[in-house]
Formats: sequence, C-alpha cells, structure tokens
Amino acid sequence: MKYMTTAEIREKYLAFFEEKGCKRMPSSSLIPDDPSLLLTSAGMVQFKPYFLHQKELDPAYIGTTTAQKCVRTNDIDNIGDARHLSFFEMMGNFSFGKYFKNEMCAWAFEFSTEVLGLPAEKLYFTVFEDDDETIEIWKSLGVPEDHISRLGEDDNFWRAGPTGPCGPCSEIYFDQGPEVGCGSPDCKPGCDCDRYLEFWNCVFTQFDGQEDGTLAPLLTKNIDTGMGLERIAAIMQGVTNNYDTDVLRSLVGVGERLAGKTYKQDAAVDKSLRIIADHSRSVTFMIADG
Ligand code: ALA
Repeated sequence: MKYMTTAEIREKYLAFFEEKGCKRMPSSSLIPDDPSLLLTSAGMVQFKPYFLHQKELDPAYIGTTTAQKCVRTNDIDNIGDARHLSFFEMMGNFSFGKYFKNEMCAWAFEFSTEVLGLPAEKLYFTVFEDDDETIEIWKSLGVPEDHISRLGEDDNFWRAGPTGPCGPCSEIYFDQGPEVGCGSPDCKPGCDCDRYLEFWNCVFTQFDGQEDGTLAPLLTKNIDTGMGLERIAAIMQGVTNNYDTDVLRSLVGVGERLAGKTYKQDAAVDKSLRIIADHSRSVTFMIADG
C-alpha cells in the first residue's frame, strides 16, 4: 500500500467513477433543500429526486459521482474517538436504474484492491440478513466465504431519515489488526471496537419509506454508495486514528498552538483537541453554507 494524501484519494475516486460513465457533480450545500432533513448527512441527499424519478439524469451518463460535505450529529457523543466525526466528506457514486449490485460490488472491489492497493486478505464484507445474491457476487470476485457475514437492520439497512429512498446495504471493512481490537473472541465486523473499520457502504436503494413505516418499491433498482474519505485516508496513511491523517492532524495542530498544549501527552487533552478540530471544521463549513 502506497501512502496517499486525502486530496489524492478524493481525485482518484472521482476519476475512477467518471471513467465508468458517471457524471462528476459538485457537493451540495450542507443545508438541504429537503423539509425532512435539518442537515445534509449523506451523499444521496441531493439525489433523492432522481431516485424517485422526479428528475432525470442526462442519458449520456450511467450515474453520478461526488465528494459530498456531510454533517452527522447522531454520533455526536463519540466524536473525539478514533473514527467518529461530525463533519466528513463522503465519496459517492449513484445509479438511478442504470447499474446495480453486480457492477457496484465489482467496482468497489476493483477500486479498493487495484487503485488503492488494499490487500484483499484484510477486507471483510457484510450483507443484509438474507441477501444471498450479494454474498454470491462477493464470492465471484474471489472473496473467501469466511470474510463475508450477515448483519441485521441496524447495520445493514440504510435510510437517511424516517421516510424516502432506502434499502439493504453491504459494507466493506478493513482489518486494522488485533492490536487495536477489543480482544474478544467474538470480535468481528460490526463490533464496536476499532479492529474492523467500516469504510465503504453500498446501498441497494430499492424502496421509498412511507410515513406509516411501510416500504413502497421504487420504480427502478438503484445504487447509493458512500466511502468515508477520512477513514480511507487513515488506512492509506498507515494510522489507526482519523485525526492522525494529513487534513485533520493539521487542525489538531492549530488547537495545540492556540491552547498551548502538546498533542499525545495526556489522553484527556488529546480528546479535547480532537473534538475542537472536528467541531471547528463542522461549524466553519456550516457557517459557509449559511
Ligand atoms: N448513504 C449511505 C451512507 O451514508 C451510503 O452510508
């Protein structure tokens, strides 16, 4: 694995999906044009009208690809640990009926192993409960059966909010090694510890969640993916904490200078410096977006 900067990974991802036929589009604002959401929390938010076929993509393209600014507050109490951020960039590609599971899984595998050069033996895959089809696809790409597991709705069914486009998903994890794990014999992808780091989510967006909780099938079978840029940057930079990557470490450094503290001398100070780095980045982008 070769060291890559956050900026290099972002560009490689967008160029890769552009090459596959996706239209490169800008990030949308953090303030969504969507009454069901307070903030843009995922790459798919700006594409909801496309999943619902209220808007159609130029037929010259098979989908779209973006680096989306996101703010997520559901993990707010975990910010400052190794892998949670309130502001992050999500690398996405989206299909509105043009490509589906086969292409998506193959491309995620190709990008991870060939473009990023991640060792296949360190990759683990989860699928939603009874999704045998996706298990077969991962196996056809050479993934051994003991690297694939099934998880329930909490982990492997993705929705942006109570209503709207959603679906089962399949996630890719990177094994950071037993040294950063909890040591439990039951530790596996989905465990709360840092050993298996989820960095890529492929959502098979097939449903429109209704107010009454039911799932109406969408007109087409769609793809919504998200690769967490800061998490993959940590992997590519050989660090096990997001805040030790090029972009975030420089913000921790600003906090060190302003507070007159040195990072990595006291665990409580370190956590505060990480929280300050994260929250100042979030509010800066939120202010910039109004
Ligand atoms: N929308 C999916 C997520 O945010 C990709 O995980």
